[in-house]
Amino acid sequence: MRLLADHCSSSLSLALWWSLLLVVLGSSGSPALGCYTRIFSFGDSLTDTGNYIHLTARSPSPYGAPPYGRTFFGRPSGRASDGRLVIDFIAQEFGLTNVTAIQVGTAPGDFQHGANFAIISATANNGSFFAGNGMDITPFCLDTQMIWFRDHLRQLAQQQNSSSSSNDVLSGALVALGEIGGNDYNFAFSRGVPRDKVRAFVPAVVDKLAGAIEELIGMGARAFVVPGNLPFGCAPLYLQRFRAAGAWWDYDPTTGCLAWFNRFAEYHNQLLTARLDKLRRLHPDVTIVYADWYGATMRIFQAPGKLGFTNALLSCCGNKTVPCGRPGCPVCDDPSTYGSWDGTHPTEAVYKVIADGVLHGPYASPVPLAKTCPPT
Ligand SMILES: *[C@@H]1O[C@H](CO)[C@@H](O)[C@H](O)[C@H]1NC(C)=O
Ligand SMILES: *[C@@H]1O[C@H](CO)[C@@H](O)[C@H](O)[C@H]1NC(C)=O
Ligand SMILES: *[C@@H]1O[C@H](CO)[C@@H](O)[C@H](O)[C@H]1NC(C)=O
Ligand SMILES: *[C@@H]1O[C@H](CO)[C@@H](O)[C@H](O)[C@H]1NC(C)=O
Repeated sequence: MRLLADHCSSSLSLALWWSLLLVVLGSSGSPALGCYTRIFSFGDSLTDTGNYIHLTARSPSPYGAPPYGRTFFGRPSGRASDGRLVIDFIAQEFGLTNVTAIQVGTAPGDFQHGANFAIISATANNGSFFAGNGMDITPFCLDTQMIWFRDHLRQLAQQQNSSSSSNDVLSGALVALGEIGGNDYNFAFSRGVPRDKVRAFVPAVVDKLAGAIEELIGMGARAFVVPGNLPFGCAPLYLQRFRAAGAWWDYDPTTGCLAWFNRFAEYHNQLLTARLDKLRRLHPDVTIVYADWYGATMRIFQAPGKLGFTNALLSCCGNKTVPCGRPGCPVCDDPSTYGSWDGTHPTEAVYKVIADGVLHGPYASPVPLAKTCPPT
């Protein structure tokens, strides 16, 4: 990841990239099957559909290698899972089948249904924040994704040739903002930063998310879905990593998950939902759905058998010596019974449970996502 240098302050000459592609977008503004015309999506490895492996193609990562993608796409697509992610199920629900990763699409037509800016390893805070906290982290951050987004929007506006296009494009779109922020904490914990200090990152992460929402509203966005953090204390990698230092009281007796790690996610989710409430009051004409990924996932860990997850706390792919995606890595027969695909990222089966809970309830507030539509 160090190889990637400080992309948090550069737009990777996207303008140049785009200037080669001044093809007319066609009937981009026409209402699609569902109620949203486009989805714009931001986030980290839980939402990336190809950006990271595209930008790191010169030093290929395991995410671009089999058996990633085995269950659904039949090949690695850059998704850190065996198949579809929450964003894929949401796009499918709204009839927007191809929300293309911004770095992967090559023609304006690729972005008719929106664009995905999420990228593996992304943090909410930028490199200067981490440097200020004594951490040498320069991953792709939300600021970078916003730069890509502004460039993209400018290009769409040029193609559409109308002065108020940015507003037109955004007013019919669904913005999926997150999950992002989990890496801010996970990277810090993995570097041994004390819990109290990491806890102090949470308000900064939430500020960053709120800032992006405010900016997008200013540009014309009218509908958002904002996921909270996952219960990472149930992820096999973290269970393993923190086991040595752990004691019995660190574990939740009903789930076997790391209790302190999950309480941390709950704290993030509390601050985030409080901030979303505030944003809803400030912008009563804007729909902001909180997606309770944590609650939807905990249902699996609390009663694994009920939903068919007989291996909820285990990962299907890879082990301590041979991580998933490396040649010869071990892989299970049936990922749909596992809570984790590769130790940190959920299986498609878990993502489907989350997506169902967000789209149709009860893991969305104030309304299930499928019940929202842009005002006409
Ligand atoms: C989706 O977009 C990608 C990237 O532009 C393209 O390669 C693929 O063929 C598209 N798929 C469909 C079903 O349109
Ligand atoms: C990093 O984030 C902080 C807080 O949002 C912001 O004030 C600062 O301008 C950002 N730095 C860069 C280089 O974008
Ligand atoms: C774009 O604007 C130019 C100048 O205003 C006009 O000549 C041209 O026909 C427009 N193109 C489209 C596709 O609307
Ligand atoms: C990991 O998987 C490889 C390949 O299946 C196997 O050879 C190795 O012994 C495993 N390592 C552990 C620690 O289980």
